[in-house]
Amino acid sequence: MEEQTLTTSHPKKSRRDFLDLLVGASFLGWLVTMAYPIIRYLKPLPQTGASGPTHLTRDESSKLEQNKFVIVPVSGQRVIVLQAPDQQLFAFSAKCTHEGCTITYQPAQSVLWCPCHDGRFDLNGRVLSGPPPQALAKYDARRQPDGSIVISEQKA
Ligand code: FES
Repeated sequence: MEEQTLTTSHPKKSRRDFLDLLVGASFLGWLVTMAYPIIRYLKPLPQTGASGPTHLTRDESSKLEQNKFVIVPVSGQRVIVLQAPDQQLFAFSAKCTHEGCTITYQPAQSVLWCPCHDGRFDLNGRVLSGPPPQALAKYDARRQPDGSIVISEQKA
């Protein structure tokens, strides 16, 4: 009789332990779910690129050759680097001065174009048409003797 009580109480305890474990794991999951966004919000955003002059990688250079433009991170900013029909290099902030959409390059018209509201810029970054209130910030784009391309912020 005593032996029977022991055997029947063991599965109950085991079930109880399992439920405790399940509740504990659920609470822990809830805690992580609540804490993660708060920690992420409080942590400063990482820089999206190294500060100072940026060398285009081989992959970025081949994209520039192929598409006539490439967008690269320079000092934490997105910069559009483009190659004009005369092979001259230009670099501008890729962030539209209207509402911040990403600029693209249309080689056939030699214009920088913002697809959000049809803003257009010339190869000096000046506004040609559309709602952008000001010119794009310019960067220096230089081809090095070894053929690599270096992008850097313009000195005022
Ligand atoms: S965001 Fe570029 S034209 Fe509006």
